[in-house]
Amino acid sequence: MYNFDELIPRRGTSSYKWDDPHDPPDTIALWVADMDFPAPREVTRALLERARHPVYGYSRVSESLSEAFIAWQERRNGWRIDGDWIVPSPGVVPVLHFAIEAYTNEADGVVIQTPVYPPFSRAVKLLGRRLVLNPLVRDGLRYRMDLAQLESVIDAGTKLLLLCSPHNPVGRVWSAAELRELGELCRRRGLTIVSDDIHCDLIMPGGRFVPLVSLGEEFAQTSVTCLAPSKTFNIPGVGSAFTVIPNPKLRAAFRRAGEKTALLSLPGLYNAVAAEAAYRFGGPWLDELLPYLRDNFLFLKDFLAKEMPSVAPAQLEGTYLAWLDFSAYGLADGEVTRLLREEARVRLNDGPSFGMGGEGFQRLNFGCPRAVLKEALTRVAAVFSAYEKN
Ligand SMILES: Cc1ncc(COP(=O)(O)O)c(C=O)c1O
Repeated sequence: MYNFDELIPRRGTSSYKWDDPHDPPDTIALWVADMDFPAPREVTRALLERARHPVYGYSRVSESLSEAFIAWQERRNGWRIDGDWIVPSPGVVPVLHFAIEAYTNEADGVVIQTPVYPPFSRAVKLLGRRLVLNPLVRDGLRYRMDLAQLESVIDAGTKLLLLCSPHNPVGRVWSAAELRELGELCRRRGLTIVSDDIHCDLIMPGGRFVPLVSLGEEFAQTSVTCLAPSKTFNIPGVGSAFTVIPNPKLRAAFRRAGEKTALLSLPGLYNAVAAEAAYRFGGPWLDELLPYLRDNFLFLKDFLAKEMPSVAPAQLEGTYLAWLDFSAYGLADGEVTRLLREEARVRLNDGPSFGMGGEGFQRLNFGCPRAVLKEALTRVAAVFSAYEKN
């Protein structure tokens, strides 16, 4: 049994989320995607035990870590992974860079579907590739991919599509039908897909995640899947990643690109220890966490409906990130962010940083004890009530 209501102060731990010197000291941090919950206790136990051994030498991805990862994916997501397909990787963001290097040349087009996790566009730009935008379409409170539009923005030089599945920040868990249609279009047009499935275990109760690659050999042979224990078990600080590439040619090209950067090297000692304990023993923790996250989202939705009815969250199927539409207030994005940070002293992620379609939105991380969420929302409502139409 876990108590996710427990308040664990994180200030003073060099937390990226909580210790930003630019934030007033009483800021409530609901931005970057890590949660304020303790990791599964088996992870802490394994780390402590390893720390007790006083020689901290180079580490390797052991057979037992690979086995634990493979067993998890099969048990939870019904996907059978062959050990040879796995390329242990330092993190999913580096993987995006390696994949762009591996599968495209300079000035080639890379498709992203905005609004999306900002490192997608950053990676494309930093590596001198051409950003090809296929913005998601908003139907009420739900988003969908626009494949007719995708067909029209792809040209002969477009080689790659970066898929976010489930999608950060809009909270969609793509259905098998949606993924199949996307996969077929990309195959027909010769695009490789990099599917960032980092949020795949954070599915709201009743929902189901489908890995694109599990939908058929044709998709497995033309895609790269990014997985990691970091979001699932809230261990991003010690996190690592696993890139799964069934096609040997794509795998070899990926390895070459990674090795060139000298970043595709041995895993950090504690990454391997934490990842193995998490995949082996973290299931019951996650099973308790998911209903708590769902209830946090329902609390948020209910609170907004009562106190800030102009701000509705996008329908949430997965992740612990709520995508909130502030546009009804008619304020500039910078002003919404200023009011949040300076007046409410609540830090969210501003919508425009997620690219086209992010204007007017803010992303809120509700992976925190409910009391913290309540306090943050109360502060936000106190500031924005002045803008609610009566
Ligand atoms: C979609 C997505 N990909 C990747 C990452 C980060 O991955 P990593 O820390 O392994 O680089 C995040 C973190 O928020 C994310 O939301």
